Order: sequence, then C-alpha cells, then structure tokens
Amino acid sequence: MEQNKAPIWDKLKKYQKKEHIWLHVPAHCGGAGLPPPLQGEFAAWARYDLTELPGLDDLAEPGGIIARAQMLAARAFGAAETFFLVNGASAGVRAMIRAVCNPGDIILIGRNAHRSHLEALAFTGAEPRYLPVAEAGGMPLNVTAEAVRDGLRRFPQAKAVFITSPSYYGVAADLAAIAELTREARALLLVDEAHGAHFAFSQDLPEPAGPYCDLRVQSWHKTLGALTPGAVLHCHGERIDRKRLRRAVQEVQTSSPSYPLLATLDAVRREMALRGAKTTAEMLRMAAGLRRVLRDFLPLFERREARQSGFDLDETRITVLAARAGICGLALGRHLSEQGIEVELYNPHHLLAIVSPGYKVEWTGQLAGILAGMPFSEMAQTFDRPLPPPPPPVCLPREVYFRPAKPVKLEEAVGDVAAEAVVCSPPGIPLLLPGERITAEIAEYLIAARQYGVVFQGIDSLGRINVCQ
Ligand SMILES: Cc1ncc(COP(=O)(O)O)c(C=O)c1O
Repeated sequence: MEQNKAPIWDKLKKYQKKEHIWLHVPAHCGGAGLPPPLQGEFAAWARYDLTELPGLDDLAEPGGIIARAQMLAARAFGAAETFFLVNGASAGVRAMIRAVCNPGDIILIGRNAHRSHLEALAFTGAEPRYLPVAEAGGMPLNVTAEAVRDGLRRFPQAKAVFITSPSYYGVAADLAAIAELTREARALLLVDEAHGAHFAFSQDLPEPAGPYCDLRVQSWHKTLGALTPGAVLHCHGERIDRKRLRRAVQEVQTSSPSYPLLATLDAVRREMALRGAKTTAEMLRMAAGLRRVLRDFLPLFERREARQSGFDLDETRITVLAARAGICGLALGRHLSEQGIEVELYNPHHLLAIVSPGYKVEWTGQLAGILAGMPFSEMAQTFDRPLPPPPPPVCLPREVYFRPAKPVKLEEAVGDVAAEAVVCSPPGIPLLLPGERITAEIAEYLIAARQYGVVFQGIDSLGRINVCQ
C-alpha cells in the first residue's frame, strides 16, 4: 500500500498553493517574473518550479521527501538503492562508470553504447575494449553472450562489462547468460536499460536487467511518461561501493534540480507500481494492432527473428525493415513526416516507431489510410553499401580528450585519428570512436552515405571530421 504515496508530488501540490514572500531562487518567483510571452498557462506550471525550501529536501543530500520517493522507487524496481537523475540517463551512464572504474581499468563495452560513456572514460582513464554488435540481414541486434565470453577470455582482468540492453530498437541481450560470465570473471555488470524501464511490468516483455546486474540506468522520460530528461539509476546487490556511487551521482548532476521533473519521476513510479501491468498490457495491445496494420505494407523485425538469434524483442518498438522491401528508409521517413507522422528514427535501411503509454489507438487507423496512399514505388533503395568494419584503436579516449584537434575534410582524413565519435544521427552504432584510425573504407562509406542524405553526428555541414593533431 505504501506505493500509493508520492511524497514529492504530494508535497509540491500543497506547497505551490501557499503564497509566500519570495526572497530566494528561482528568479521567476513562482511564474510572476517570467517574461510576458510565458505568462498564462506556462506560468501556472512554473508554480511547481521550486527549490530546496524547508520541507522540500535536497537531491544532493536527501533525507526527507526525496529520500522517501527514491526508496519507494527502489522497492518498486527491486533495487537496493535508487537515485533520481535530473540530467537524463546520460548522467547515469557517466555515474556508473565513474563509480566503478579507476585509471587503467579495462572495461568491456558493447559498441552500441550511448556516447555519454565516452566522457566517463576520459574522466576515469579506464580503457575500453569494444564488443561487437551482432546483426541479421542488416538489422543491428545486440551483444551476444559469446562476444562477452570471448572478451572476458581475452581480458580476464576486466573490471566491468557495460551492456546496452535493450538496444534503441528494443533488442534485449541475454543478460542471464552474460551475468553468469561476469560473475565467474569477477567483473561487474553495468546495464544501460534506458529504453527498458517498462520491462518490470509485463511477462510479455523481455526480462528486466535488475536480477542480473550491479548497476543499471533507466530513462523514464523515454518509456514511462516522466518529463524530459527524467531518469533513474538503480544499484543492485552488494558489490558496489555505495559511498563512491553517491559521490559519482552527485558529480554528474546539477546542484539546482528541477522539482517539476522530480515530481514526475515520483508520480510515474506510483502510477507504474499501481497500474504498470495494465499500462504495459495496453501498450503491447496497441503495438500489436499497429504491427498488424504495418505488416500489410512493409516487412517488420519480429520477435521470433530476435529469438532465433538468441535475443529477445520489446514489441512496442517497431522496426520497419525498409531495405528488405527494396525501399529507402530515408524516403519513407520523409514521406511519413510530410503526412504528419513522426517516427523515432529513420535511416536508409530502417525506420523505428515507438508505441508509448500516451499512444492513441485511433492513430493506427489513420496510419493505415495514409500507408494505403503511399507511393512506395517512388522510394527505391539505392544505398546498398555494407557497414565497414570497426577501425583499429590507436590511443585511449582520455588521451584524445586532452589532445588538440582540428577539422579535416573526410577526403583528406584517411590515416588520421578521430578526435570524436562519428555516429549516424539519430543514434546508431558508431562508425568511429575517439582514438580510432580513420580507414579508407570508413572515409569512403561516410562520403557516400552523406551524399545519399544520411546525417552523422561528428561530421559538420562542410563534411569535416575532427581529428587529433
Ligand atoms: C541507449 C541510450 N542510453 C542513454 C541515452 C541517454 O538518455 P537521456 O536522453 O535520458 O540522457 C540514450 C539516449 O538516446 C540512449 O539511447
């Protein structure tokens, strides 16, 4: 019954009604001081934008409502301790690595890791060894247990293994098998579960990472309906130095946390604890309906295909395998956008649609009507270059971080060392990571892909890449 409570939200609701003489930050004084265009509806919302006033606790040293809310979140998610993150799962990824890695420690990292891990490598001086991401017919899957076994055999001294599960596409790794391997190797298991916070609430979704990992982050704004960028970090088991973890979390967070954001984390936890099973069942039902409609037009990545390769799939993530139908994903995404349908991401090969708790079932019918009128024959796929293999690493992310860099045209960058990650935007598997040598194959691929219309983070509008000097 304690999950009925939402200590931050309940307190804030009462507090914002009280008038007080405002001689503290934030400067908008509950909305009155917002500039005129922001008055009205927005100013009403700003009444919740409070600070560490008496009774409102302190995220950096919680002992009141925030401590209680975090404890309720820990219980709801089976964690030993939970931290609310007001700087997104990005902050959680940084904190996990800072909390466990020392200079020179080896950490095995799936190559599909979010770029936020790079800052933590630069800070700690830990040495990454990247694990390959399996794929099937051009569809990126995830890191296999075999790849982890191989990594741990080659680097038995590894301090930790960092896995992103599920992937952006909802493909979940076999964490049970990976956890067994990391336990045997006495390595810690860190999981970026940014896209999988809802897994705990349904047997029809992949298993959550909680029972297997030491630390995991979840992006509640991505799947549970918290305000952007609300996220959490869960600590499991006894292998983590909690003092160091708390310090790491504090270091990556602002000292002025947003109370509206904290309140949504608290309210979302209550909602999921009380009605999460119903919400996820509904999401899955709506996703199944959307899948049925889409399948009439286009091939989709299916759960059975994921399982054949030793993975699982969150079916609320719907990947259209455009290339498999000879269709260009970029053209399809653009056509859909022109018709008012905005998907999560599209690239030459796929398009990813996400069904969230806020999805409206009537959208499925509208989408069916729009797809029926789509000129698929005008969207032929003509980009068929396979991804080049990852290039050889030359120096560590920490060394690169402190070295001067300069922009160089891709055509002239072969042989240089990348100073930053180059990732298809929206995020995919990085083609280059800081410290890797730019091969001719990679440069040619990037030039061709850009000509085709693919946008990359890490390459500017003039086609230049930052390289180490
Ligand atoms: C796998 C993964 N981890 C972490 C992040 C960062 O999450 P946030 O936006 O909450 O900082 C993202 C963002 O896209 C992501 O895809």
